[in-house]
Amino acid sequence: MALRAVVRSVSHYVPGRRVTNDDLSALMDTSDAWITERTGIKERRFIDSEGVTTSQLGEAAARQALDRAGWAAQDVDLIVAATLSPDLYFPGIGVILQQRLGCRAIPALDIRAQCSGLVYGLSCVDGYVKSRQAKKILLVCAEVQSPVLDLTTRGRDMAVLFGDGAGALAIEACEAEEGDPLVQRGIIDSHLGSDGSGAEVLCMKLPGTARPGFIKESDIQEGLVHPKMEGKVVFKNAVGRLLETAQTLLKRNGLQPGQIDLIVPHQANLRINEMVREELKLPPERVFNNIERYGNTTAATIPICLSEAVAEGRLREGSLVLTLAFGAGFTWGGNLVRW
Ligand code: COA
Repeated sequence: MALRAVVRSVSHYVPGRRVTNDDLSALMDTSDAWITERTGIKERRFIDSEGVTTSQLGEAAARQALDRAGWAAQDVDLIVAATLSPDLYFPGIGVILQQRLGCRAIPALDIRAQCSGLVYGLSCVDGYVKSRQAKKILLVCAEVQSPVLDLTTRGRDMAVLFGDGAGALAIEACEAEEGDPLVQRGIIDSHLGSDGSGAEVLCMKLPGTARPGFIKESDIQEGLVHPKMEGKVVFKNAVGRLLETAQTLLKRNGLQPGQIDLIVPHQANLRINEMVREELKLPPERVFNNIERYGNTTAATIPICLSEAVAEGRLREGSLVLTLAFGAGFTWGGNLVRW
């Protein structure tokens, strides 16, 4: 008998408010041409009104994932949440989701792996399943990033990249005999990495305990409460680590790139994903991208892509999927999943 962590459903939720590149050009010195050419982004979603929280977006995605899996909230025995934009400094959103969804007093944990939240999350879920600690798991990845962006010319390099959104997966522990098609399904393998020497290359310094006095008025004036990035350094590291992750997972599982039905990469920059695709010598239809419509929703990008890929029929039961992510930390990784 083999124990597999099988994805039963995936769902996503994005707020209704579309913010185009032209909308941002009205707030800062930028242009649709610059943003499109450098990133592939045309628009992103921002929360509809002030005070909408990350857990609210996560809840909307999670409720639909529960419905699609045919589960009640009471069936769930573990919540794994991933976000860099929690409702509160502490606790994390895992427990808030437990309460909002009406789950039992089950374990709920938060992963802080930024853009790698989904790939770390799937690896974590696989571990819980294979150590027989959980059977019905909700993995929720959600972000509300628009309120922390510096929407002025000073913050334009970061402000044009990010959006708000959420995705959720219902994942079930399935026991199957050899010969049962179920034995082929589920999370097959994961590869994760980190390099903390990049911690301050992409970060938001406040709120944080490293700052004497915690938060001062001058820190706000200096913009330390907004995310900062050395874009070119991140770009170079991202391409290298994404490729390294893909090659590691392919080699370890005796696969050629052409045997993957769909690669679902993190959506940070279309040029990054195109470089990875070209290096793997795959046609455009084998890589799923939607950065044009949502920008970078950090932990939520991959689940939003998975959800849309299912809706578009590009991901079906039996498809072999490779997820790939790189983000702040630095953190990176990928998962090989038989859908
Ligand atoms: N609009 C117009 N001009 C802008 C701008 C904006 N929004 N943001 C920056 N610029 C300007 C810069 O000031 C700079 O001007 P200068 O040449 O006069 O100094 C010029 O454009 C080039 O900036 P640069 O940062 O070198 O651009 P880039 O080609 O590196 O593209 C990113 C910037 C952010 C799109 C790119 O570096 C990137 O995608 N990095 C990786 C992101 C990533 O992978 N994140 C993963 C985790 S979230």
